[in-house]
Amino acid sequence: MKAYTTDVALSDLDADLVAVGLYEGDELSEPLGSTGGASDASSDFKSQVIVYPGHPERVVIVGLGKKEDFTAERARVVGAVSQKALKQIKGEALAWMLPESPEGVEAGAIAAALVEGAGFSAFEFDRYKSGSDGQEAPPELKAVEINTDQDVTAAVRIGEVIANAGNRARYLQSLPANEATPEYLAGRAQEIADANDKVTVEIKDRAAIVAAGMGGLEAVSKGGEDVEPRLITLKYIGKGSGEKLGLIGKSVTFDTGGISIKPSAGMHEMKMDMSGGAAVLEAVAAIAELDLPIDIVAVLPSTENMPSGTALKPGDIITQLNGKTVEVTNTDAEGRLILADALVHCAREGADRMVDLATLTGAVLIGLGSTYAALISNDDDLSDAVSSAADRSGELVWRLPLHDEYKNLTKGEITDLVNASAQRKAGTIYAGSFLEEFTEGKPWAHIDIAGTAWDTGREYWGKGPTGFGVHLLVALARDLSA
Ligand code: BES
Ligand code: MN
Ligand code: ZN
Repeated sequence: MKAYTTDVALSDLDADLVAVGLYEGDELSEPLGSTGGASDASSDFKSQVIVYPGHPERVVIVGLGKKEDFTAERARVVGAVSQKALKQIKGEALAWMLPESPEGVEAGAIAAALVEGAGFSAFEFDRYKSGSDGQEAPPELKAVEINTDQDVTAAVRIGEVIANAGNRARYLQSLPANEATPEYLAGRAQEIADANDKVTVEIKDRAAIVAAGMGGLEAVSKGGEDVEPRLITLKYIGKGSGEKLGLIGKSVTFDTGGISIKPSAGMHEMKMDMSGGAAVLEAVAAIAELDLPIDIVAVLPSTENMPSGTALKPGDIITQLNGKTVEVTNTDAEGRLILADALVHCAREGADRMVDLATLTGAVLIGLGSTYAALISNDDDLSDAVSSAADRSGELVWRLPLHDEYKNLTKGEITDLVNASAQRKAGTIYAGSFLEEFTEGKPWAHIDIAGTAWDTGREYWGKGPTGFGVHLLVALARDLSA
């Protein structure tokens, strides 16, 4: 999808569908006012397509709700509403007459959000649909044009990059585990590096992971016989001096639970246990596309978590990259084991601050549902920076506390740590407390996206993958590079 800005009269727009927003209480202005349409479209997010007896031929009136309540997040929703109307008329090019922003809201933020909402909403995963031979390809969203006399060009470009990067992450999330293996993700990382001079990649295979002393990644990958793990390190040098931001993404390409096997109902969804890695990969690609002046070191520990005759067993004791020992009381708490090594590796690669994204605990789904991801951090400044980027992106986070009493739950009897406790207390914080042991004294923020990576049902994401984290990380990188 391409997005661009124009400044022409309504009658000069060439899109298949032109969207016009209407705030509550507003009347349609001429020439649309005389079409007799849209009498009730001004109520929240309702839309009505009118066939216009002139040019453009089709206009969709979208209700924006109360002007003072209008935000970028609402613009994402109406962007999605307009894309659905475009799809109904089998159109491919959408134009928006940029609505006037309420006070305190930047025109650029609304413009970008319209592009994001339309772009996200157009995502479809149809590569495994057969039988379309001989038929015409279904229409897809090819262009979003923002029509305004304000200068929103830069913002619209950012919206375009974010929508496309988010959708690429969603594509990776959707791929089944027999396709999106650790090797496949490494291939995608290589592609990103090949496409950008400022990005380099280093891939470790099983032997190199073992040789490096990454005992967590080694242990979790032991159950997979022919699917090998990979430790993927992507570096983006956009500045070459100043802060280096570390990004870590959990990339379990399938989580059966291992020997502590999960119930079979719904297990197929565990192909999405690499959502953190997908978001980190495509965020780095987007940051490179935007040429942001910041340095990034991104780390994806990637493996399957399988039961087999060679698998990690409950009670096994492993040594993580920083020398800490862990008794693995539950092989289904595998994410923290691979992230532990990845955090240490990322710090050793020179990251000054680290943010990890992981589908880590079922508990976060119970606590926060699909609206907020959990944020856990050892540093108020970084936590605030993440929260503010989250607010602007619509990818919301809610901070949970760390406390010595939680930390005590993670202490081992015969080892430094245990990876899960029989008392099922504060599961999301437990995991965060465990990870904190591997942050090497660096400011760190952990984002548990197990509830927000899939099936949020939000208007612009619908069912299935969300790419949650791509926008948040790009927004954070923009802030830190300012
Ligand atoms: N990948 C799962 C968490 C998950 C749950 C992701 C639901 C997406 C949706 C993780 O590896 C896991 O199995 N966590 C366990 C930890 C427990 C054994 C301490 C959990 O949350 O049940
Ligand atoms: Mn698990
Ligand atoms: Zn998992």
